[in-house]
Amino acid sequence: MTITDLPDALTAAGELSVWPASTTPLPHGDLAVGGVSLTEVADRFDTPVYVLDEREVRERCRAYRAALPEAEVLYAAKAFLSRAMVRWVEEEGLGLDVCSAGELELAVTAGFPAARIVLHGNAKSPRDLEAALRLGVGRIVIDSPSEIARIAAAVGPDGHQKVLVRVVPGVSAGGHAKIRTGTEAQKFGLSLADGSAQHAIARVLDQPQLELTGLHCHIGSQITEVKPYLVALRRMVGLMARVRDAHGVVLPELDMGGGHGIAYRPGEPALDLTALARRMRAELGESCAAAGMPVPRLVIEPGRAVVGPAGVALYRVLAVKHTGDTVFVAVDGGMSDNPRPALYGVRYAPRLIGRHSTAAPRTTTVVGRHCEAGDVLAGGVELPGDVRPGDLLAVPVAGAYQLSMASGYNMVGRPPVIAVHEGTARTLIRRETLDDVRMRDIGG
Ligand code: LLP
Repeated sequence: MTITDLPDALTAAGELSVWPASTTPLPHGDLAVGGVSLTEVADRFDTPVYVLDEREVRERCRAYRAALPEAEVLYAAKAFLSRAMVRWVEEEGLGLDVCSAGELELAVTAGFPAARIVLHGNAKSPRDLEAALRLGVGRIVIDSPSEIARIAAAVGPDGHQKVLVRVVPGVSAGGHAKIRTGTEAQKFGLSLADGSAQHAIARVLDQPQLELTGLHCHIGSQITEVKPYLVALRRMVGLMARVRDAHGVVLPELDMGGGHGIAYRPGEPALDLTALARRMRAELGESCAAAGMPVPRLVIEPGRAVVGPAGVALYRVLAVKHTGDTVFVAVDGGMSDNPRPALYGVRYAPRLIGRHSTAAPRTTTVVGRHCEAGDVLAGGVELPGDVRPGDLLAVPVAGAYQLSMASGYNMVGRPPVIAVHEGTARTLIRRETLDDVRMRDIGG
């Protein structure tokens, strides 16, 4: 049964539209995800806790494979990574995009084939490069001119490494200024407009141990329209044609990055994957035909759209306070497990679970437990007027860039990740304890 089959009023109102497809209402205001009651998860694993629906992740991987069967789909590990996630992504036939030795080592030690991994990063450390070469990473994406000689030297005269060059195509897109990466005013990539990309490409082609397999761009994140991708794609194909003309080299790959936007609240726009696939394919075919070039293999790198909607965060209410006209509902997590509202002003749609309330809704500000006024998880949300300490709040669309960006602020400890699947719950990542925190502190 899908959520659209449910007769429940919640579903009819579209309130569960941003929840995992497996979400079903249970008695007493509870919800099940992956066949597991959320209140049971909270009781058994304590709060705050992150719940990840394995089927939702797998279905999203499959949707990408089905929409773009001719493309290589790399899951962007920065959105969320764990050993189970590595296995799911591998089993669903995706590759991986990593941006540190940490992500790379975790993936490879969990059994992911290194050849299907691409290493990114605007500032790769010696450790990152050492791990990449030692583990035999498939491709390294060059992000600055100084990297060319560094990678060539690290590979050695008899070695061989496939690389891409990251290009800034001059396209502005993305949900917030901090996550727009398609224009010059930011740190990533090499500019098409000022010729740095062309210059770097020429230098890479001069290095016999580096094999330039293609070009890369990533124009930003949380993009909900197809058009910016088409503009970027056209410019990238134009550059590939110029590379052919200048160097006689036909590059076989074009990596268009990720950034596919999702809805965090019911009614918000999301990038239409089917439309993206159809229009990118058409644009690629036309641009290549116009340039007299064979169509390169398309590569894409979705992160958020694979894992974001598969996650739900559960918090326990610790305090309720009226200050002036504002009702503050304070929970046992906050900006240390989800810095996104504070960083990007993102708005979430928490809901009360675990009891039916008949109280009229009232405008509420859900705040965290951290020592900052900016620790707001969800401002101006409608919650039942009788929300009280002990209640549970569930926040959907919590799978991406929350735990992967979690911090140790106030020594609260990072929450666990519980996978739910076909009625069973299991721990993927355990809660960070005070012992963990203490153990790292080895000074006297
Ligand atoms: N490829 C590259 C090179 C990237 O830098 C990123 C994300 C992706 C792919 C995946 O983008 P996605 O499909 O997940 O949008 N912390 C921010 C998002 C930062 C994105 C960083 N790069 C947030 O919470 O919104």
